[in-house]
Amino acid sequence: MSKVEIAKGVYWVGAVDWDIRHFHGYTYETRRGTTYNSYLIVDDKIALVDGVYGPFYQEWLDRIKEIVDPQKIDYMIVNHIETDHAGSVPIMMEINPQAKVICSGKAKEGLLRHWYKNWDFQVVKTNDTIKLGKKTLRFIEAPMIHWPDSMFSYIEEDALLLPNDAFGQHLATSSRFDDEVDNHLIIEEAGKYFANILWPLSSVILKKIEEIMAMKIKINMIAPSHGVIWRKNPERIIESYLKWTKGTTKDKVVIAYESMWGSTEKMARAITQKIIDEGYEARIFSVPVTDRSDILAEMLDAKAILIGSSTHDNGILPNMAGFLDFLKGLKPKGRVAAAFGSYGWARGAVTSINEVLKEAGCEVFEPGLEVKYVPSEEDIKSCEKFALDILNRIKGK
Ligand code: FEO
Repeated sequence: MSKVEIAKGVYWVGAVDWDIRHFHGYTYETRRGTTYNSYLIVDDKIALVDGVYGPFYQEWLDRIKEIVDPQKIDYMIVNHIETDHAGSVPIMMEINPQAKVICSGKAKEGLLRHWYKNWDFQVVKTNDTIKLGKKTLRFIEAPMIHWPDSMFSYIEEDALLLPNDAFGQHLATSSRFDDEVDNHLIIEEAGKYFANILWPLSSVILKKIEEIMAMKIKINMIAPSHGVIWRKNPERIIESYLKWTKGTTKDKVVIAYESMWGSTEKMARAITQKIIDEGYEARIFSVPVTDRSDILAEMLDAKAILIGSSTHDNGILPNMAGFLDFLKGLKPKGRVAAAFGSYGWARGAVTSINEVLKEAGCEVFEPGLEVKYVPSEEDIKSCEKFALDILNRIKGK
């Protein structure tokens, strides 16, 4: 097993999960796998920053043992207690119960409620430091990026930021660095990660980035806990995060629909074609056949979100209802949104969609568009007019 030294005396000792296809239960499709990154800092004192998901503990321990005896680790630093990072920590603490567990106050509470072990905790706050020898570790609390317990660690002498979930991507690769992997792919996966996990936390993240900028700390490298390490171009991911947290969008419309017998699909296609004909970017998805997490990733930089569903039992079709419930939680504020769909003898879907879109914080373009049974030629013209109305609404936004 070859050692991966990311800075002098700092080693990547994580695990690559090539096979994971669903993350956070079944909320996020990870078709490119993921990594659980853990970092070992070897100085006069030895610190281990974060663990891995529990089932990968052996790979983690093997990598650590290539470099040091795990019983010699002085500090087990837990930046975040979620089980994909802290799941292996109890195993390390069994091997080395003398290690001090360094974490935020909320992380201590959370670890006690997960594992019920009275480890030797040392709670740290923003700007607390630990001198390891030549290297100094500084801590920056980062609540809600992604849980209340989250914090970043920073190695001052290497200008190396270890921000756990922030700036990560679900991407399993044989290479550990951004300059060794297709950058388009990394940004795509980082965007998908942001959209599905961090989007509702945008304002907190933006504030944290601005706080770190105000601290004027130098950042040569960002080593997150998922995906590749930003070695060559850490500015690129910071710029992307600034764009996403500020809700920067482009002239793009995402159309997501669920159709029972094809009428709502006809409406969706007519709307999409008109948007394309007008020179805008459009992406259309049938919700039951595309993974929710991919559709949401496309919505991140879209100015408008159009949601279509046939009426079913006076409401929304079930796949779309589930999709909208997830979308609501992501709070895609500032996006123009509108509803459309077909019905038979009773309406209901469009009204219900409008309600959810309002709860999601969208600027809802009401009343939406409804068609009885199968769209006529005239109805198709109404779809095109609907598309034009939406484009007029987003012009200049
Ligand atoms: Fe990668 Fe919030 O855990």
